[in-house]
Amino acid sequence: MKKIILRLDLNVPIDRKQNKILETERIDVVMGEIKNLSVKNNLIILSHLGKGEKQDSLALVEKYIRSKLTKQENSKITILENTRWQKGEAAKEGGKDFVATSKYFAEMGDEYIDDAFASMHRAHASIVGIPKIFKNEGKKIALGDLVKLEIKNLNKSLALANNKKNQTILILSGAKISTKLPLIEKFLKKDAKVVVGGGIANQILKDILGLKIGASFIEKSFILKPKLKIYLKKEIEKGNLILPIDAILQNKKVESLENLKAKDIISDIGPASLALLKNKMKNSKNIIINGPLGIYEKGFVEGTLVLLKEIKKSKANILIGGGDTLVLTKKLKMKSEKNIFISTGGGAMLDFLVNDGKLPGILAIK
Ligand code: 3PG
Repeated sequence: MKKIILRLDLNVPIDRKQNKILETERIDVVMGEIKNLSVKNNLIILSHLGKGEKQDSLALVEKYIRSKLTKQENSKITILENTRWQKGEAAKEGGKDFVATSKYFAEMGDEYIDDAFASMHRAHASIVGIPKIFKNEGKKIALGDLVKLEIKNLNKSLALANNKKNQTILILSGAKISTKLPLIEKFLKKDAKVVVGGGIANQILKDILGLKIGASFIEKSFILKPKLKIYLKKEIEKGNLILPIDAILQNKKVESLENLKAKDIISDIGPASLALLKNKMKNSKNIIINGPLGIYEKGFVEGTLVLLKEIKKSKANILIGGGDTLVLTKKLKMKSEKNIFISTGGGAMLDFLVNDGKLPGILAIK
């Protein structure tokens, strides 16, 4: 019987105090594939969890998966511990440790399937090292069903964004502006409207518009290049780069962004900004959203929920991504269907959009 190495992204949020998986979606979407492949094969399942620290064991994930499988299916699968516990997993590609870890994994199977879409932007041993060895040895390598579905839907959003008539809106939020700037620039150049929230918006409000943002989060070490600053300022003036105009503060009060005091912390998008956004979305045929607009960890999810409810009613093509946003879509019982696709990727989805699908994990299989 064939031994298939199946790389999945089982990186789910876990509450270590309660010993509980908080969100199982990333596991649930690959259960069908695990079941199908285990009919005729033995499976060696690989995944990372968290940053690969001591507490990041996959034991709970394994327990959950096994609880969904029959005795027969269970006898066919082996789930390896966190790939990031191996020294070379995230080491320099091609280096001694990387090669040793790639070999260690590769020796476990005869065929390799990568279905870890959310990890395809990482050039790690279990993502690019194994397929490289298998290619040299003439062994079969392939993309899994989930990755194929993600590629199809993300390409659809990209293709729609390439046609100005679709009035694409990219709604981008998150803590760090540095990782999101390439995507912001890319979509502005496609004539899309780019709406920013969270730390990204804070930084632009402060560094480009010179507003006082109180004690709100920014990426302190980040310096915006002068040329880019001028470009982004022009895009704000033209109405292409859209910023919030009001906010919910840490004390839950609504405040205009012109009036912030030194201790104020922008914690969620305000009602006037949401109304503005709703209006912009009316004529759009292509909407992409990644990252919640408020401080998710502190429970400021209301603004994003209101936005998602609005998006749910829209007839536009919708692409939603990012781990926290995924949890919110589940709260609203939103599913991938007809015009809506909910990606399992966070960083991988963004990198896919920036690099037109050329992610290390995808290129490794080609
Ligand atoms: C994710 O959650 O985005 C993926 O599992 C990748 O995780 P990473 O950002 O730790 O590489």
